[in-house]
Amino acid sequence: MTNETETQTNIGKADIAPGKSQTGRSGKLQMQDKERSSLEKAHQQNSGTKPMQSNSLKKLFEKELEVVYHSEKQLIKILPEILGLVSHPNLQKEFSHHLKQAGIQKERLEHIFHRLRLDKKGGKSLSMEMLLENAKKEMSELESGAVRDSLALIELQKAVHFEISLYGSLIDMAEVLGYHKIADFLDKSLAEEEDTDRQHSFIARNLYNQASQQVGKEPYRH
Ligand SMILES: [Fe+2]
Repeated sequence: MTNETETQTNIGKADIAPGKSQTGRSGKLQMQDKERSSLEKAHQQNSGTKPMQSNSLKKLFEKELEVVYHSEKQLIKILPEILGLVSHPNLQKEFSHHLKQAGIQKERLEHIFHRLRLDKKGGKSLSMEMLLENAKKEMSELESGAVRDSLALIELQKAVHFEISLYGSLIDMAEVLGYHKIADFLDKSLAEEEDTDRQHSFIARNLYNQASQQVGKEPYRH
């Protein structure tokens, strides 16, 4: 058969075959669809969230809300394992405090989802997961002491700054969207993150001084 329908079908098959050159409008459109699908898949794998279905600010706000929610959940899941590798008493205390705060922040976000009548979607923040899993792996390769604790502090600071940037952006978007009460809730979490950042900076100088003098498993000096 050499009718037009068959010819178009064959062109379509040739277009999706690997290594074939793309010709014709239908071939280009199929290629564009394929590329778009690959990009969306890559985006989904990288962000851990579904691609946005709309260009609206409200949808962007909801998507970033999901990202920070999953970040808090990842932190709650992995931080106890990092905490188990930390030996400095002040750092243990600070990480334990931050873990409790993450639980409160997660509940705050669940309250916001409820107010906005949004489902708490499944998924995870791959950025946060990669950051914390990498921290855990690198820490496990070091001996217990000030250098390993310094690494833990630096890695957790990356996580804190990641969340500070998310909460800051969410507050600005919430105000523009008229979600003033929600902005107030998010502002509480931002203030907690910023306080954690200050506490970490306070501990860091002392910790780095001790790390600079560490030889093998030299104990802490207090
Ligand atoms: Fe947090």
